[in-house]
Amino acid sequence: MKDDDATLPGDPFMAYRGDTLFIDGCAAPDLAARFATPLYVYSRAAMRAALGPYQRALAGRAHLICYAMKANSSLAVLQTFAALGCGFDIVSGGELERVLAAGGDPAKVVFSGLGKTRAEMRRALEVGVKCFNVESEAELETLSEVATSLNRRAPVSLRVNPDVDAGTHPYISTGLKGNKFGIAHDRAVAAYRRAAQLPGLAVVGIDCHIGSQITEIAPYLDALDRLLDLVETVEAEGLRLQHLDLGGGLGIRYTDEAPPAADALIAALLARLDARGQGGRELLFEPGRSLVGNAGVLLTEVLYLKPGEAKNFCVVDAAMNDLMRPALYEATMGIVPARRRDLPAVVCDVVGPVCESGDWLGRDRLLGVEAGDTLAVLSAGAYGMSMASNYNTRPRAAEVMVDGDQAWLIRERETAAGLFRGETLLPG
Ligand code: LLP
Repeated sequence: MKDDDATLPGDPFMAYRGDTLFIDGCAAPDLAARFATPLYVYSRAAMRAALGPYQRALAGRAHLICYAMKANSSLAVLQTFAALGCGFDIVSGGELERVLAAGGDPAKVVFSGLGKTRAEMRRALEVGVKCFNVESEAELETLSEVATSLNRRAPVSLRVNPDVDAGTHPYISTGLKGNKFGIAHDRAVAAYRRAAQLPGLAVVGIDCHIGSQITEIAPYLDALDRLLDLVETVEAEGLRLQHLDLGGGLGIRYTDEAPPAADALIAALLARLDARGQGGRELLFEPGRSLVGNAGVLLTEVLYLKPGEAKNFCVVDAAMNDLMRPALYEATMGIVPARRRDLPAVVCDVVGPVCESGDWLGRDRLLGVEAGDTLAVLSAGAYGMSMASNYNTRPRAAEVMVDGDQAWLIRERETAAGLFRGETLLPG
């Protein structure tokens, strides 16, 4: 991949004007100078633009778009989607508290995840979430007990594992038989029967989520067909499923991927639903990456150029603790200079300061840069900051949201002292 790709992922919100990279109306080098690096920068307009095709394709149908906040759970990001009418897909009590802190509506929250604790269930019942996406028969029993103890009935959907291959990286594929997620398709009817008997539960829906960074429509249609077969069987037994939740997973372009647009995916799903006479039901989606991935970049400063016999290294101030995707999934993400310069370009690995050989952000990149320059790792809005850690006692990066030519600091940079604030020395 070259550093001067004509169209960057995230275009038109990530684009060069002359030699300078702009994030919406803000020049990336200026942001780096003002807020320091490593720095996550997001475009609010890009998030709005990514949601648009989902909303337009579903207009006129009963629906709820539940932003899968694990992709990026920073409060200002949640606030942005709440203001646009979104609900949230959460997977922990911590995420629920973030929704509440950001002003999100708990009645628009679906609670996914295969290991909900009783305390998490209690809290979610107290604030009144829309639905629990239940992942096992055992969880049904526990949830019913917890709800009964609070004199409530928990709204439940069963997450069914449709056993379809989403054709994505094994770590982010979730809808196959061998995955830990969901209730096996052939056990689902029995699970629904059991749910209907339990005093603390109210069956309201069915859901699936087959994986992430999916770049084709076909696996979604296969999953939908498998789910609709179940809906028909379950409803023939007298249970009513008010909503159908098809999860998230739509991919984005990192380098040369060509995923379908969200409206094209939804149009295909609606056509299949209508063809099967099932178009009237409330539809839920749980997109994460496709709403925020291309709306963010990670800015990082070049610390040292380190030529070598076998490899050249470009050592930067961001590392695997800031952005785990390359180390964890061998993910390829675009890396471009914040300001293009007339310097000889060399092929190098872009690596961070962490003491692991797996600490790289990009391999074999052609870059013409010097120490002190700023680089932008592209498509870093999803699963960047939300997966960041403090490994090597590295304070986590700051975050900035831009809109037009305005920029707001939405999360301050951590300090080393803050990292060990909760620790104590032994007496003596
Ligand atoms: N719903 C459920 C139940 C999920 O487990 C996920 C993601 C989503 C929705 C949202 O999927 P998305 O639209 O973002 O693809 N850290 C990995 C991705 C892990 C996805 C986990 N589940 C990465 O950086 O590629």
